[in-house]
Amino acid sequence: MTAPSVAVVGATGAVGREMLATLARRDFPVGSIRLLASSRSAGSVVTTPWGDTVVEDLADADPAGIDIALFSAGGTRSKDHAPRFAEAGAVVVDNSSAWRMDPEVPLVVAGVNDHAVSAHRGIIANPNCTTMVLLMALAPIHRAAGLRSMVVSSYQSVSGTGTQAMSALVSQVEDLGRNVEALKAGGWEEPADEIYVRPIAWNVLPYAGSETDLGYTDEEWKLVNETRKILEAPDVAVEPTCVRVPVMVGHGITATAWFGRDVTPDEAGELIAEGPGVQVWADKVATPLDSAGIDDVLVSRVRTTLGSPGGVSFWVVGDNLRKGAALNAVQIAERLVEDHLA
Ligand SMILES: NC(=O)c1ccc[n+]([C@@H]2O[C@H](COP(=O)([O-])OP(=O)(O)OC[C@H]3O[C@@H](n4cnc5c(N)ncnc54)[C@H](OP(=O)(O)O)[C@@H]3O)[C@@H](O)[C@H]2O)c1
Repeated sequence: MTAPSVAVVGATGAVGREMLATLARRDFPVGSIRLLASSRSAGSVVTTPWGDTVVEDLADADPAGIDIALFSAGGTRSKDHAPRFAEAGAVVVDNSSAWRMDPEVPLVVAGVNDHAVSAHRGIIANPNCTTMVLLMALAPIHRAAGLRSMVVSSYQSVSGTGTQAMSALVSQVEDLGRNVEALKAGGWEEPADEIYVRPIAWNVLPYAGSETDLGYTDEEWKLVNETRKILEAPDVAVEPTCVRVPVMVGHGITATAWFGRDVTPDEAGELIAEGPGVQVWADKVATPLDSAGIDDVLVSRVRTTLGSPGGVSFWVVGDNLRKGAALNAVQIAERLVEDHLA
């Protein structure tokens, strides 16, 4: 196969920019590149390793000739445009939640269920960034011992919401930080931006995403449903809580998991360390700052369960823009090229 023609849809966003950087960093064989975004960015020029490229308006772009389209422009755009790209012959790797639970669409974590790529019918879904990071650590234990149930809490960075949220964190830190007394004793003023339901700076929001069924947010349901689909374990019980924290990049997750048999922390640590793209940090606590800007996810604090013996608790953190989004999408694209599936 000649080097594929690649399109990045949402190229001006946080994930889109990381996709371009990832394609370059991994020497992906880009035959030609097209960049697409909204009418706001259409006509602007982006410098890429493959030449200066004019951003096209997704709304009226002709997808003919595109082999691989990496979509990260939001669910509505994916619903509206991914099918027409696929019909024109492109394989779409989609970062939004639009297609993830469609039974005809593979949901793939590279390094966990790569085999699912070959079943694609034009669209492949990238899992949400929290589930992706979690499963990099959990899947190797699942394969050995069979996951039964888990209690999961996420600590999600603002970059998971996009570029506007990163700017909002910076300005809120500054604005609220001017009155430290108010942060200590009350009297602070609600920030003017409307990115989150409550202030994100100097704070923790025990509410990531938007409300859906039974009082859970869509982010929490993603952890339940995407875990089951990726691990092909429809009966796994997941108790999720998703929290937004004032961190720029890097989603952290605490998980307490029980399996079909007892698993010791030593065994869990060894299994996790054998997985691709994961580092187990035994002597140093891994934090979001450590994970930002690297490909691997980091695992710390592997412990035995206390109340119900035989399970393990651990902490895993990963760059939500890299493994949580762009890196995984590019790894799927690499698989498509290697297996002549695009
Ligand atoms: N951030 C993460 O960690 C992460 C992880 C996994 C998945 N995702 C998913 O990836 C997608 C993008 O996230 P992001 O963080 O990159 O958001 P972002 O920084 O806000 O970027 C959004 C991108 O979508 C484009 N866009 C918006 N409205 C559009 C329209 N009507 N037509 C065409 N393009 C449009 C924007 O173009 P303009 O610049 O022209 O507005 C921009 O390129 C979302 O579906 C998100 O759920 C994000």
